[in-house]
Amino acid sequence: MANTIQKYKDYVMTGFIKSMVPIVVDHALGAVITDVQGREYLDCFAGISVVNAGHCNPEVIAAAKAQMDKLVHCASYIYHAQPVADLGEKMARIAPKGLTKTFFGNGGAEAIEGALKLARLYTGKYEFIALHGGFHGRSFGALSVTGNQARKKRGGPYGSGVAFVPAPYVYRSSWPNDPEECSRQCVKALEDAIRYATSGDIAAFIANR
Ligand SMILES: Cc1ncc(COP(=O)(O)O)c(C=O)c1O
Repeated sequence: MANTIQKYKDYVMTGFIKSMVPIVVDHALGAVITDVQGREYLDCFAGISVVNAGHCNPEVIAAAKAQMDKLVHCASYIYHAQPVADLGEKMARIAPKGLTKTFFGNGGAEAIEGALKLARLYTGKYEFIALHGGFHGRSFGALSVTGNQARKKRGGPYGSGVAFVPAPYVYRSSWPNDPEECSRQCVKALEDAIRYATSGDIAAFIANR
């Protein structure tokens, strides 16, 4: 265990993280992870709310193994592959009406980059409104709409054309006992930001906390 943690210190870039827990994971199943000494932990972090299918979900593992036996990767710029077409069709069925095309990326930051570009292309506008405290990933565009200094330190300046507004998160707002006042103040801050901190050429409002 100490050996793995030391190797992280020596060879793995973790400077963008405040601290990591001193657990070396050996294997995991469902909601339980087991460390190299056999201790079990209930994992409240799996997928960070993104792909929370449980660790080593047998259905996911079986599908991944079956696909990897056939084809692991072919350049997505060149070839068609059936699983991609099928998933695109499924996404079109479950997405809100009118959203029929999916951009497949490698993770969250790439999805955000795609969304920012798409919003600009679609609207012909270029500015964004983002939330105080929001986080969207570690790539340049994603950090440009991230409203959290800790994530951005020593990396700026980031992309311009972003105005930040308070998030209507009642519990952490100045009106923890008054949700309606919190909403009113956040709407006012949003209107002010549009009027005073942008040119009014807003391509998208990006919200996530
Ligand atoms: C809300 C949110 N958006 C985007 C990302 C970036 O995702 P990825 O690490 O897959 O690039 C994260 C990662 O933690 C996230 O929590």
